[in-house]
Amino acid sequence: MNASEGPALKELFQDDFWIGAAVNPLTILTQGRLLARHFNSITAENEMKFGSLHPKEDRYEFVEADRLAGFARKNGMKMRGHALVWHNQSSDWLFQNADGSLTDKETLYARLKEHIDTVVGRYKGTIYAWDVVNEAVADEGEALLRNSRWTEIAGGEFIAQAFRYAHDADPEAQLFYNDYNETNPTKRDKIYTLVRSLLEQGVPIHGIGLQAHWSLYHPELDELRAAIEKYASLGLRLQLTELDLSVFRFDDRRTDLMKPDPALLELQAVRYESIFRLLREYRSSIDSVTFWGAADDYTWLDDFPVKGRKNWPFLFDEQHQPKPAYARLVEAVKG
Ligand code: GLA
Repeated sequence: MNASEGPALKELFQDDFWIGAAVNPLTILTQGRLLARHFNSITAENEMKFGSLHPKEDRYEFVEADRLAGFARKNGMKMRGHALVWHNQSSDWLFQNADGSLTDKETLYARLKEHIDTVVGRYKGTIYAWDVVNEAVADEGEALLRNSRWTEIAGGEFIAQAFRYAHDADPEAQLFYNDYNETNPTKRDKIYTLVRSLLEQGVPIHGIGLQAHWSLYHPELDELRAAIEKYASLGLRLQLTELDLSVFRFDDRRTDLMKPDPALLELQAVRYESIFRLLREYRSSIDSVTFWGAADDYTWLDDFPVKGRKNWPFLFDEQHQPKPAYARLVEAVKG
């Protein structure tokens, strides 16, 4: 089967969820045809993060983000906004006074509100959903939230504040809390606790984003099911926001694999099939499944966590041809 044969993913899953891909200014060119054929939603990989859009207090850089938003409009795709508040890829000035010391809460909030008004306002009508806060929950230990400059300055309240600002800037937008290790029972329960407390405070939050940076070996399907059920019990919308299936276990450091062998591709096909079967069971709660890329020629996993190592996490290969996993999904849905 070549890339122009077989159903488009977006048609295969049209009764289930939107099918998205993370893109950047290069991949909308190099993967443009594949994206237009198979996907009906995009997310900017980096270009809408705070540090990319707002490098200096008095300077915004919209050229690349606008290009991606234009690609979505031109192709009639939906677009997710990613991400308003994160502890990474933010600008230092946001947290600092002129002398470099940590600023105060009022200043931080005023800056955040100005940023959110400007950015969310600019893409109103194009972006229907925002990751308002990304990765605020601590992976380990008792603490609910990870320590960051956000918590240092404002405690945990910055989360509610960001959602309120985003809602004011675009009352129509769906607002998400987004995180990884989302199926890990400890972290899952913390995410649940955080979001439940936001709901109890009347904070405008509409969904939970499961990043879904997974592998052929992790997570167990039972853990995925339990996480979906727990999050859905809050009555919120769910999305998979950054799906990829690494061919390596997270702690596997091997660097000798030059190309995935048929057995590995078969394993990946089986994994994709069982994951999508499960996701379809919960399609009344899940609105969208976004891959963190589109085809194996470009993935952030080529460098992470092992620098310089190639990975093959997607349904399409380096030439944008369907992999065995694609065929298995077609069979599973149509068969
Ligand atoms: C996190 C972020 C994404 C991206 C990935 C790595 O999941 O949410 O924006 O940076 O890490 O590519």
